[in-house]
Amino acid sequence: MVLDNEYKVVENRHISGITWLLKVEAPQLKNAPAGSFAMVLPREEGVYDPLNRRAFAIADIQGDNILFFYDVYGKGTQALTKKKVGDKVKILAPLGNNFFPEDYPHYILVGGGVGLAGLSLFAKKLNKAGKPFTIIYGVRRKEQLSMLSWLEENGLMDKSIIYTEDGSYGKKGLVIDDLPQLIDQHPETALAVCGPKGMMKAVVNVAKEKNTPVYLSLESKMACGIGICIGCVVKDTEKDNYVRVCYEGPVFDGYKIQL
Ligand SMILES: Cc1cc2nc3c(=O)[nH]c(=O)nc-3n(C[C@H](O)[C@H](O)[C@H](O)COP(=O)(O)OP(=O)(O)OC[C@H]3O[C@@H](n4cnc5c(N)ncnc54)[C@H](O)[C@@H]3O)c2cc1C
Ligand code: FES
Repeated sequence: MVLDNEYKVVENRHISGITWLLKVEAPQLKNAPAGSFAMVLPREEGVYDPLNRRAFAIADIQGDNILFFYDVYGKGTQALTKKKVGDKVKILAPLGNNFFPEDYPHYILVGGGVGLAGLSLFAKKLNKAGKPFTIIYGVRRKEQLSMLSWLEENGLMDKSIIYTEDGSYGKKGLVIDDLPQLIDQHPETALAVCGPKGMMKAVVNVAKEKNTPVYLSLESKMACGIGICIGCVVKDTEKDNYVRVCYEGPVFDGYKIQL
């Protein structure tokens, strides 16, 4: 059930690069599905700038607490950094109706930058279920590896291949560099991807070359988050129609969506 509640801030701090971690006490959301997201109101009630809520993946659930990793770009995320421990944040969640399918024997999770937050809860779920998977996590520079400590804390480093474009940490290169070989090693695998559009396009191209299933968790400008404003649509090439990322998504079959 989607709830619109105020939740208490437990932690809100800068991690690295432009990424912050927001932790709220929200026991009502502890069964939020892996891959779901939230619309977070960054401003105070009664103040109308910035007007709209901002969308963030529910990155982790730790007991009664919900975690968001957010990159700071504009007014909304800047306002969010001002929230202090004990403040209340209004959050509409859990949102989305289509998540990563869970019936493949193996997964390769490909996260670009803070896009890993769209995969992290799914990674935990696969890990708990004992399902084999590999995480590929890529950024430009070391300081953008804001979810590295999350991977460490959750015992997922031995399942992760880390890339930096400048070689300042892990392997030097792009997330797709070893992807074809990795797929060859696991022919039954499916790809689950979240990150910048260019990266997702590159991963979809590799998936198509290898005839491998690929599922994308899409990010799109969202005003309502619940299917009403039609502001977040993407083209479904199979239906030759538009679908709402917030409502028909956020996860889509990469073979059927025009990026
Ligand atoms: C389903 C979903 C899940 C998401 N999950 C996350 C998440 O877990 N963590 C996270 O950090 N973000 C996530 N996003 C993206 C996030 O919603 C936006 O980054 C956020 O709304 C930006 O708000 P703002 O107030 O900072 O920027 P705005 O005021 O909206 O924009 C200010 C400027 O920044 C640019 N900008 C805004 N967002 C981005 C971006 N993502 N990349 C590059 N430039 C941008 C705009 O084009 C504009 O020029 C998600 C989006 C969706 C739809
Ligand atoms: S954000 Fe309004 S329809 Fe998707």
